[in-house]
Order: sequence, then structure tokens, then C-alpha cells
Amino acid sequence: MKQPPVLRDGPVTLKMANDGDVPELIDYYQRNQVFLRPFSPPWPENMFEPDIWPGRLAAQWDEFLQGRGCKLYLFDGTRIIGSVGLSGIQRGPFQACFLGYELDEHVQGKGLATRAVKLVTHYAFVELGLHRIQANYMPANERSGKLLRRCGFTVEGYARDYLYINGTWADHVLTSLTNADLLKP
Ligand SMILES: CC(C)(COP(=O)(O)OP(=O)(O)OC[C@H]1O[C@@H](n2cnc3c(N)ncnc32)[C@H](O)[C@@H]1OP(=O)(O)O)[C@@H](O)C(=O)NCCC(=O)NCCS
Repeated sequence: MKQPPVLRDGPVTLKMANDGDVPELIDYYQRNQVFLRPFSPPWPENMFEPDIWPGRLAAQWDEFLQGRGCKLYLFDGTRIIGSVGLSGIQRGPFQACFLGYELDEHVQGKGLATRAVKLVTHYAFVELGLHRIQANYMPANERSGKLLRRCGFTVEGYARDYLYINGTWADHVLTSLTNADLLKP
């Protein structure tokens, strides 16, 4: 079986979640729902019901095993405090994917998301052999824009009505990082 990554840098540990993590996942999303929902695609109505999570996690494992994505959670011990995910992996001449991330409201401003995104971009280029990572953010989401700049992403454009976020089609700033950027001094 393809080995799932476990990525570490200082206080940051990123790994895929299993059924045993469901209580922590529900706790994470419950305590962050007011904070995260303005930046998130619609959540299922039953997001906090344990029964839906084994199916959601099985879908994440399928995506990983089929090479289509990799959803990693940021662990502080057994507690979940964020996530970083690669999705829409395409091979052929594109060798690209999308990046998404989020962090517990109460641990922001310490550089944890920066460390986590850097670990995952390194994994995408070195272990998965991808060439390009695309990450897009809403113009008002300054923390997200700053995070991407810190991690070396550059702005490539602007897309109107790009993603359905928090009940509306939201414009996004388009950015990317390539493995050539990573090798720059
Ligand atoms: C986007 C998001 C992950 C950014 O979180 P964040 O806490 O700002 O990012 P980090 O954890 O990397 O912390 C960076 C901050 O810590 C500071 N910091 C402290 N120590 C640091 C260190 N060792 N390394 C880097 N930064 C450090 C930085 O200066 C920065 O603060 P500043 O923005 O005031 O300059 C978070 O705001 C979030 O989850 N938002 C909601 C979901 C979301 O928007 N997702 C993205 C959709 S596109």
C-alpha cells in the first residue's frame, strides 16, 4: 500500500486522519465554525454527527491512494488544530494541483500555518514529483495572501465569481508556486 506522509517541523505534525480521530475532528470544526465558515465551501448540515465522518475520511483515503489528492491534518498531540490539503492532482504535461489550508483561530499568528504549508509544498514537489501548486484566496483575506507570499507563491491573476464560499460566488486572487521557484536561492 502507498505510504501516507507524516510531515514534521518543530511543533507541527501533519498526517492523514483515521476513524479514531473523529471526536477531535468534530471538536475542531465545532469550536472553529464561526471563524472558518466565511472562508469555506458549504459544510454539510450534519457536519458534527460522528456517523458521517467515516465516509468522509474513506473518501480522503481513496483520493490519496488513487493519487488524486492528499488531505493532511495538523496535530498538536492528539488534538487537531488545522489542515493542509492538496487536491485535483493532474499528471501528464500539467503535473499540478491545488492547495488549501486552515488553522484553529486560537493558534494563529505563531507561524504554524507557514511551517505546515512549506512542509506540504516540499512534499508535493519532492515526493509526489509535481511541478506546480496553485492556491487562490479572496482579496479581503489578507492573512491568507500574506501566508502565500511568505511561502514563495506569486500572484498570477484574478478570477471573478471563482468559488462558491459562504453562500455566494466569490472573486479570488490566483497564485502559484512551481518547483523552479523552490530551487531559487
Ligand atoms: C490563512 C490562515 C491559515 C493564516 O494563519 P496565520 O496564523 O496568519 O499564519 P501563520 O500560522 O503562518 O502565522 C503567521 C503570523 O505569525 C507570525 N509569526 C510568528 N512567528 C513566526 C514564525 N516563526 N514563522 C512565520 N511567522 C511567524 C507572522 O509574522 C505572521 O503574523 P502577521 O500576519 O501579523 O505578520 C488563517 O488565517 C486561517 O485559517 N484563516 C481561515 C481559513 C482560510 O482563510 N483559509 C485559506 C483560504 S484561501
